[in-house]
Amino acid sequence: MGRDVIIACDFSSAEQTFAFLDKFTGRKPFVKIGMELFYAEGPQIVREIKKRGHKIFLDLKLHDIPNTVKKSMAVLSGLDVDMTNLHAAGTKRMMEGALEGLTRPDGTRPLLIAVTQLTSTDQETMEADLLIKEPIDKVVMHYAKNAKDAGLDGVVCSPLEAGKVHDTCGRGFLTVTPGVRFADGDIGDQKRVMTPAEAKKIGSDYIVVGRPITAAEDPVAAYERCVAEFVD
Ligand code: C5P
Repeated sequence: MGRDVIIACDFSSAEQTFAFLDKFTGRKPFVKIGMELFYAEGPQIVREIKKRGHKIFLDLKLHDIPNTVKKSMAVLSGLDVDMTNLHAAGTKRMMEGALEGLTRPDGTRPLLIAVTQLTSTDQETMEADLLIKEPIDKVVMHYAKNAKDAGLDGVVCSPLEAGKVHDTCGRGFLTVTPGVRFADGDIGDQKRVMTPAEAKKIGSDYIVVGRPITAAEDPVAAYERCVAEFVD
C-alpha cells in the first residue's frame, strides 16, 4: 500500500456512518473506525464497511498482557481489516504477541501500528502520572524503536515527528499522522497541525483526517482535495 488519506469516521452509529459513506459514489476511501463506533455497533460494522469496498484502519489501541493481546488480534485479523494498532507501552513482548496473533494461516496480516505517547499526554503529566522523567521526544522515539524491533510496521505520530521517526527507524517504517488541516480551515482542538501538502513533503505515509472532511459542506470535495494535495 502506498501513501493514502484515511478518513476518521468518528460517528456514534452505523446509521450516521452509512449516511456519510453513501456520499462516496466514486473512489472508496480508506476509513478509520475507532472505539466509539466499534463499541456501539460491534464487529458487524467492520464487516459491512468492508463489504462496501473500503479499506479499514481499526483503531482500538490494544494494551493488555501479551497472551490476551495475541488472542484478540487473531479475532481482529479474522475481520479482514487492513490496519490496526496497539500501545507500545505494552512492551516489546506484547507487540510480538500481537503480531503473532494477527498473522493469518496463509501468512498475510493487517498492518500493525503502535501508539507511542498519546498527544493528550505532555511532559508534565508524563512525569507526574507515569513517573517517566526522560524528555517526551526521547520517550516517543524509544517507543518507536521498540515497535520497529518487535517487527511492527510503523507508528501513529504527529506529522511534525514523521521525519525524525523515519531517521530513527528507517524510511520503510510507516508514519500514520493525524492533526491535518487545510491551510484555510479550522484548527479546532488540534494543537500542532499540518496541511496535507506539508505532510506529504515531510514524508508521512498515511494522513488521518476527520472533521476537515466529515464536517465539510461537501465531504467528497474535501476528501478529493486531501487526495490531490497528499497522494497525487
Ligand atoms: O477530526 P480530526 O481530523 O481532528 O480527527 C483526527 C482523528 O485522529 C481522530 O479520530 C483522533 O482521535 C485521532 N487521533 C488524533 N491524535 C492522536 C491520535 C489519534 O487526533 N495523537
